[in-house]
Order: sequence, then structure tokens, then C-alpha cells
Amino acid sequence: MGKLFNETNEKFAKYCVPTYAPAKMFVRGEGARLWDDEGVEYLDFAAGISVCNLGHCNERVSRAIETQCRRLVHISNLYMNDLMPVLAEKLAVSSGMPDAQVFFANSGAEANEGMIKLARKYGNQTGRNTIISMDNSFHGRTLATLAATGRAKYRKGFEPDMPGFKQVPFNDFEALEKAVTPDVCAIMLEMVQGEGGIYPADVEYLKKVRALCDEKDILMLCDEVQCGMGRLGTRFAFQSFGVIPDAISMAKAIANGLPMGGFMARKKFASLMVVGTHASTFGGTPLACAAALAVQEAFDKDGVLENTIEVGSYIMDKLSAFVDKYDFVQTVRGKGLMIGLVLNCNAAPLSGILMKKNLITLTAGETVLRLLPPLTITKADADIAVAKIGEALEEFAKEQK
Ligand SMILES: Cc1ncc(COP(=O)(O)O)c(C=O)c1O
Repeated sequence: MGKLFNETNEKFAKYCVPTYAPAKMFVRGEGARLWDDEGVEYLDFAAGISVCNLGHCNERVSRAIETQCRRLVHISNLYMNDLMPVLAEKLAVSSGMPDAQVFFANSGAEANEGMIKLARKYGNQTGRNTIISMDNSFHGRTLATLAATGRAKYRKGFEPDMPGFKQVPFNDFEALEKAVTPDVCAIMLEMVQGEGGIYPADVEYLKKVRALCDEKDILMLCDEVQCGMGRLGTRFAFQSFGVIPDAISMAKAIANGLPMGGFMARKKFASLMVVGTHASTFGGTPLACAAALAVQEAFDKDGVLENTIEVGSYIMDKLSAFVDKYDFVQTVRGKGLMIGLVLNCNAAPLSGILMKKNLITLTAGETVLRLLPPLTITKADADIAVAKIGEALEEFAKEQK
């Protein structure tokens, strides 16, 4: 670790609330590459946890930020901003969601909070305000999104839990159907569970959820914070499954690294959120919107989504070979460039070995090595990553003995 890291780490320990334990410092990024404080180069298969989906310091996005930051950064939502409705139109029209309307916020948790409020606003008209979410899900760290999150460990110590949420097993329609009591106003799920371990939803399950929501007049809410914005090879995650929800939340990659989030909902529901019912000071600033519009332009012009599908299946095919080779590698799971190498043991040591080989990866659940490279990743870089994973698995296998 370099001098700069050590000096900074001292300040971190003294002045920052100790919620994080950063073991590395990166000072520069370009595309799928990061450099640490000693100038060492890394291949990034985490993309800031699916945030820098176009790679670090993407030319289009950086140019848009540079121009906009000299024009206008923030004005508040008391005044019209010339970019926010343009971005909302772009998202709504390209989603195919009928009469979609968008609300902008700043993070995934805040996006989900807004979507939860929307569902309650609709449900409360008929005395219903319980939301069903899924076991193993992750929806954020605010109190309502923690209550929606289907992993109790995140709530520990922060009791009492916010009321109005209950969880059922994911991809289990019978359990879901049983849980739809007269107080339920919405069903909330991730189309591919991210933090929980890269579990894609079954298409047939989603179709049944859609039909159940229609039948019971309840909202189908999809958290696309991690699996959306091109990650699965479609602009929106639900487009990969052919099932249209009533509302989705989005954040992370929407502005390729500038903080932005939001929810998009069918007008029937969104129109209930009238003036004064919800707000966010920073939501949809001109600066964040300029970056997000550049992201959308990249989807339109740079073949990003096509690359995601092609390189995603290329990587999954290559990783499959490790399932036959090592008995502790159970399967490869995922969609697009949201990929999990599923082990039968803790995946953190494997991710640690890979970091020493200058490949940045993540874990999910306890046993999944999670790969979320930029969507612009090349096959050549995919080959480098797969080779490093092969070497790391070999070392890991020896350590297991
Ligand atoms: C599916 C999902 N929802 C919500 C969140 C929370 O997002 P944020 O950390 O921006 O609040 C995350 C973060 O990992 C996520 O993966």
C-alpha cells in the first residue's frame, strides 16, 4: 500500500463513520481499467457495483458533465430545468411502459422509497398498504427499504422494523399467492436478485405475478437498481423478460457515476403523486440529467446493449468449463453481464486472490463470485479475466486441500 493510502487511511479511521473498510485506493480510471495510488493497473469487473456501466470516465459522459457544469449545476425543483423532462421522455418512451412518468431522486434506496410511497398512496385509497417482497432480496439501507429487504441481517440492531412489509420465497408462485391477503397493495421484486446471489426470476413466474397483480388490482414493482440500465442486455431489466411492471426503480448506472436514481410508473399510479406529496432537493439536477442523457445516447449509438449480450454469453460459456473442472464450483448463473460463479463455499477468499492478480470482482450472497464488468468490456479483456479466474481457482483448490 502506498504512502497516500496510508495517510488517507489514518484520516479515514479518525474522521469517517466506520461503516466501510476500504483496503485499496484507486486514483484514476479509464474504460475497464483502474489504477491504484502506486500506479498499479487493475481490470475492473465490478464497475463500482454496476454503476460505471459505460466504463470509467466514459468520453460521452465526461464531455456532457464538463459542458453542463459550466452552464448550470443545480436550481432545485421549484423551477423548470431544461433537461429533466427530456430525460424523463427518453426513459419513458424507450421503456415501452404505457403512459410512463418518471420521478428523479439520488440513490437506489431513495428510488425505492419513492416507489413504495407510490404503492401505498394507491393502496391506501382502498385501505391496503402491505407490500410483499422476496426472501433474499436487497432494496437499500433506509428504514423502509430495509423492511422490504429479504435478508434480516441488514435490519439487526435497527429495530423496530418499519411495519407494512412481508417476505415470501422468490420464484415460488404458490407461496406468493397465499401471501396476498386483503391488506396487500403491491408485490416488489428484483428481476435478477443481485446482492442475494445473482438469481434471475423465472419468466413463467413473472407472467403469473403480472396476472395476479392485474386480478387483485395490486402494483407490480420491480427494483432495477442493480439489474437495470443495460446490465442484462436490454435498457430496462423487465424488457429481458417480456413482462411489464407497474413501476420500476432505477439508480446506480443511470448517470454512469453521478448520483442519480428515480422511479418510473404507469400514469394511473404516478398521477396520484400530486404537488407536495413527494420531493427531493437534488432529484434530477441539470448536471445529473446531462450525464444520464449521455448514457442513453451511448445505448442508442455505441452498440452497448448488443455488446452486453454477446460478451455476457461469451464469459458465461467460458466460466462453465470451471464447473466440470472443480467440484467446489457448482454452476454459472446470470443474464447479460450480471454473472455469478456459484461455489459451494465462501467466495470472499477467491475474490481476494483475484484482487492480488489485479482483477477486481465482487461477491454476492456468501458463496457467489459476482462479475459486473462495464458493458463496454471487450472479448480480449474477458479472456484476460477468465484466465485470471482460472489461475485463482487453481490456487483456491490447493488452499482447500
Ligand atoms: C437491487 C438494489 N436495490 C437498491 C439498492 C440500494 O441502492 P443505493 O445503495 O444506491 O441506495 C441496491 C444497492 O446495491 C440494490 O442492489
